[in-house]
Amino acid sequence: MKSSITHGVKILSTGSAVPHFSLNNQTISEIVQTSDEWISTRTGIKERRLLTGSHQSVIDLAILASRKALDKISMDPSQIDLIILATSSPNDLFGSASQIQFKIGAVNAVAFDLTAACSGFVLGIVTASQFIRSGTYCNILVIGADVLSKWVDWSDRSTCILFGDAAGAAILQSCSDIENSILNFQLNTDGYYSSHLSIPYQDNDKPHAFLNLHQGSFKYLYMNGREVYKFAVSQVPLSILKCLNSLNMSVNDINWLLLHQANERILNAVAEKLSISRDKIIANLSKYGNTSAASIPLALDEALQESKIVDNDIVVIAGFGAGLTWGTIIVRWKEFTLG
Ligand code: UT7
Repeated sequence: MKSSITHGVKILSTGSAVPHFSLNNQTISEIVQTSDEWISTRTGIKERRLLTGSHQSVIDLAILASRKALDKISMDPSQIDLIILATSSPNDLFGSASQIQFKIGAVNAVAFDLTAACSGFVLGIVTASQFIRSGTYCNILVIGADVLSKWVDWSDRSTCILFGDAAGAAILQSCSDIENSILNFQLNTDGYYSSHLSIPYQDNDKPHAFLNLHQGSFKYLYMNGREVYKFAVSQVPLSILKCLNSLNMSVNDINWLLLHQANERILNAVAEKLSISRDKIIANLSKYGNTSAASIPLALDEALQESKIVDNDIVVIAGFGAGLTWGTIIVRWKEFTLG
């Protein structure tokens, strides 16, 4: 159903899911040479949840988070028009969104994966918003889910201490332009630095004897932590300021700063650069570590459950990570019921 009217976008509901198994800093220091003191002071992380056991994948967490978001508003899954799964750890390179569509019974939904690492949820919300504003779709489920524990090298102390597994979901719905919640967005990519953070594919040495065709496999996650840190602290504030400026808003209008949960020092440094008080930062990474595409919807869902974010609050959401890709969304929070 298409129309020429510009539609607004409201966030109807959120949900999240984390695995049961928790790995704290003390236990991780029995696996690699590290300490609770180093991890806590350098990152703010105390523990992370890991998807252990066989036959468990990102799809299981994504389904749990999606069902919670649907149940909160008693929405029938058949009302969903589109599912966007932001993930960098699918269990099928052709995509995992269609399995979620089937398993939650979203029989009328188109579904696809979106790969943009830790910025994936921000890109997913912006993509969904375009479909809604154009009048193409009415109800969209956006999921950010990752299980990077399957992709980190558990002997590399510089990365294995950082990541956790989780999923977060949000249901977006079309509304009148006056009720619009997604006020603005600002997105960026700089592929020049892509090698700083990557799960690279590598050819095997020996080609197929007859075809001279190389086949290979994916390697473990690699990160140049220092460079990614510098990039985040320098670029994220600029993106937020650009986004605010084009709305004629200032940092004083911000009620909540919700950044990708990579490192507590990054959250504090970005807030400091913008002269935003630390008590406006939403942070839950001490409990979950860096959950990649899930970190923003997981933190958003928790902040809503704790009634931190209330009606009309301005929430600045910013994602950053591999690509390198980074971006901001400015949301005026609205408490809605199913229309
Ligand atoms: O989600 C995508 C976006 N990702 C990010 O934003 C991550 C950005 N980067 C970071 O958060 C930080 O760079 C890290 C937390 C990854 C690392 O912190 P850092 O303060 O930048 O440490 P470093 O990499 O500069 O390493 C400092 C020292 C090194 O030793 P030397 O060379 O100074 O002797 C490392 O070998 O700390 C050592 N080190 C560790 N020591 C104990 C690295 N990892 C560990 C560890 N335990 N787990």
